[in-house]
Amino acid sequence: MDFACNFAEMLKNDLLLRAAKGLEVERSPVWLMRQAGRILPEYRATRAKAKNFIEFVKTPELACEVTIQPVDILGVDAAIIFSDILVIPEAMGLPYQMIEAKGPWFENTIKSKADIDKLKIAEAGDLDYVMKALALTKKELNDRVPLIGFAGAPWTLFAYMIEGSGSKTFSKAKQFLYTQPELSHMLLEKITQSTINYLKGQVKAGADILQLFDSWAGVLSEKMFYEFSLKYISKICDALSPLVPVTVFAKDAHYAIAKIAETSCNSIGLDWTIDPATARKFSANKTLQGNADPCLLYADDKKIIEETHAMLKAFGKQRYICNLGHGLYPDIDKEKVKLFVNVVKEYKW
Ligand code: CP3
Repeated sequence: MDFACNFAEMLKNDLLLRAAKGLEVERSPVWLMRQAGRILPEYRATRAKAKNFIEFVKTPELACEVTIQPVDILGVDAAIIFSDILVIPEAMGLPYQMIEAKGPWFENTIKSKADIDKLKIAEAGDLDYVMKALALTKKELNDRVPLIGFAGAPWTLFAYMIEGSGSKTFSKAKQFLYTQPELSHMLLEKITQSTINYLKGQVKAGADILQLFDSWAGVLSEKMFYEFSLKYISKICDALSPLVPVTVFAKDAHYAIAKIAETSCNSIGLDWTIDPATARKFSANKTLQGNADPCLLYADDKKIIEETHAMLKAFGKQRYICNLGHGLYPDIDKEKVKLFVNVVKEYKW
């Protein structure tokens, strides 16, 4: 039996799943990237209970608590499991630290074939704490809204594993692509297999829908994006979309939207640099998700309402999931986020 379908049938609010599958909805669902995060004082209070970010991610009870907070406080139509994309490199044998005000940092990076050979292909069991967090959250949500699982896209994980930290250019990671294309494919393949195992585990543990984050797609040329990123995203979509809907969010890669639409994904996440009509033109067969500029939420209420209405109208009611074009910034006022969510929910179609 397809248990993923079973969950969907039981949900009280399944707007997100219907929209992703292209089924009819009464209104567009809304959730926000980084909704479980520092904009909520409640998140900061829960985070303070853990020694550091990694311990926080690895404590299912705390992860569950912050995953549900935005559903209760902001009224969003979905929960996204609290975790990080960097849990995969760690499970493959490359541990990271999250340095306060700086971001991720890897003590060891990938430099050679020997380094790649040493990495293991992760199994779902290597990420048991994420599976436990999903199962617990699924239970605590009590079928109020769908639970989103996620992973980093292979190229974005590769970029961190070579570079060792965030970067404006990811020039070390790109140098590796240009100078070691065969080794690059070897590493990308290992990350892809690990990600497929991981996401299948997430579905078993209770994820109703999945999102792939290719946060650093935008540093690649179009040609390199197809060769080193989309090829692997496509493999992941083929493995997972028969189980649950899959969203591909490749930031700053809207030039690739028509090619992304050729994969077996169900929906495409958009950043704010493409207008809805253009996006629709190149991806008629897919659901679209996005794409308000997070900085809109610094504006006054009138501006937020006007721009949100314009966006809803431009995308249309069907095959659309309302979201931002990237994650919330930590200093955005929670009341503005609530306003955004309510404007979407109350929009008169
Ligand atoms: O609410 C949600 O969206 C779910 C949780 C989530 C987190 N990270 C929690 C988190 C998700 C989906 C991610 C994905 C993630 N992690 C991405 C892809 C999305 C994107 O933003 O493009 C990336 C690139 C990462 C890597 C990462 N994790 C960075 C660069 C940082 C530091 C940036 C920062 O805001 O400090 C993190 C840390 C992180 N992951 C935080 C959260 C809530 C902030 C940590 C804190 O509480 O201090």
